[in-house]
Amino acid sequence: MAITTSGNTGLQAYRASVLHFMNDPAFHEDAITWHEDGLLIVKDGKVQLAGDYVQLKNMLPGGTSVEDYRGKIILPGFIDTHVHYPQTDMIASPAPGLLPWLDTYTFPTERKFADAAHADEVASFFLDELLRCGTTTAMVYCTVHPESVEAFFKASEARNLRMVAGKVMMDRNCPEFLRDTAESGARDSEALIQKWHKRGRQLYAITPRFAPTSSDVQMQLAGELARAYPDTFLQTHVAENTDEVAWAKALYPKARSYMDVYDQFGMLRPRAMFGHCIWLNDTDRARMAETQSAVAICPTSNLFLGSGLFDFARADAQQVALSLATDVGAGTSFSMLRTMNEAYKVARMGGTFLSAMRMFYLTTLGAARSMQLEGTIGNFVAGTEADFIVLDPHATPLLARRTDRTDSLEELLFAIALLGDDRTVTATYAAGRQVYLQQKNE
Ligand code: GUN
Ligand code: ZN
Repeated sequence: MAITTSGNTGLQAYRASVLHFMNDPAFHEDAITWHEDGLLIVKDGKVQLAGDYVQLKNMLPGGTSVEDYRGKIILPGFIDTHVHYPQTDMIASPAPGLLPWLDTYTFPTERKFADAAHADEVASFFLDELLRCGTTTAMVYCTVHPESVEAFFKASEARNLRMVAGKVMMDRNCPEFLRDTAESGARDSEALIQKWHKRGRQLYAITPRFAPTSSDVQMQLAGELARAYPDTFLQTHVAENTDEVAWAKALYPKARSYMDVYDQFGMLRPRAMFGHCIWLNDTDRARMAETQSAVAICPTSNLFLGSGLFDFARADAQQVALSLATDVGAGTSFSMLRTMNEAYKVARMGGTFLSAMRMFYLTTLGAARSMQLEGTIGNFVAGTEADFIVLDPHATPLLARRTDRTDSLEELLFAIALLGDDRTVTATYAAGRQVYLQQKNE
């Protein structure tokens, strides 16, 4: 097979170990693709081929320069399926649980996004921080202000990132200064869909914050938008905290459960992403699986706020689509490696063993599948968008010491998952372009 070129333009090649997934390693053999001495070939922002260096090197047209990352690992960029960019400046704010945390820190912080210049500045910092951590796609909550969404998509478009974001809809049980109305929330959301959904790499998520802060009419209109624009995303919170579950029950007494509130309004569907999902029952999980709705598991946030432990065993038994997420500002790190570390421990507390392979799957192809974006991002199948990262197993003295003493690929990846963080990310590429390179301070 020859590498097609049109005058050699836009052809790039990267040599390193190459890791990606074709399936969920928890349920399928041969789910993992690993090239110890690998080559990733990128053309015009898309993956052309990934394979063994010795097999592919002769297919490169003479004169193609090969970026040498030997000793490092190339894998698809991480995908964070639930994060709040306006909460960047309040990460690590202490409060005794979700509801006081929202009142004390979150709402006053989000108020500032009525100012477009402030939103611009935070959106730029946030995206650069994601790239520093190796995250190339995220599902992002903005604030109730349409300006906050404009700022975010502008900053994402400028970096040519594949991002999903939406305007928070909330018309009750929150401060007056953060309230839309059922009608204005739907109207502003629809205008943003028409402007931004599928413009370049940008994708829109209809974003009712959570059932307690939306009226019945707003929930109804959000559900109608979700039906009118079936290839948009939908994101919200559900069953995060026992006080919140009791509140939702009191507000929607006729619903079978908190998740059933969303179901009644037609919000369970492909491309719907539900944050947390800790306090669900088996009927809720069965409905998620049937409707191809997905979970964003947020372990650093859940431990930080004391919300609870996600039940991996029940979710897997019922074949619910899973992904991992930071949930910053309640989450305590932007790093998906730190997130894996805490996901591993949460799973252990529930009696489940998460392999490193599974965690790397969940943060790449698993997330892409949860978002119905397989074939676009998440692995290195030919034609996918070339969003990838370079991880350094020697990034810190301890990580180097440990990874030099591993006996298998699983052990190597496990050490990186448990000991890694932003320092482990050497470089990040989006659509074939380098968007971050770690500066060595030697
Ligand atoms: N539930 C409703 N809003 C939020 C939020 O901003 N963060 C978290 N963790 N949970 C929420
Ligand atoms: Zn959240």
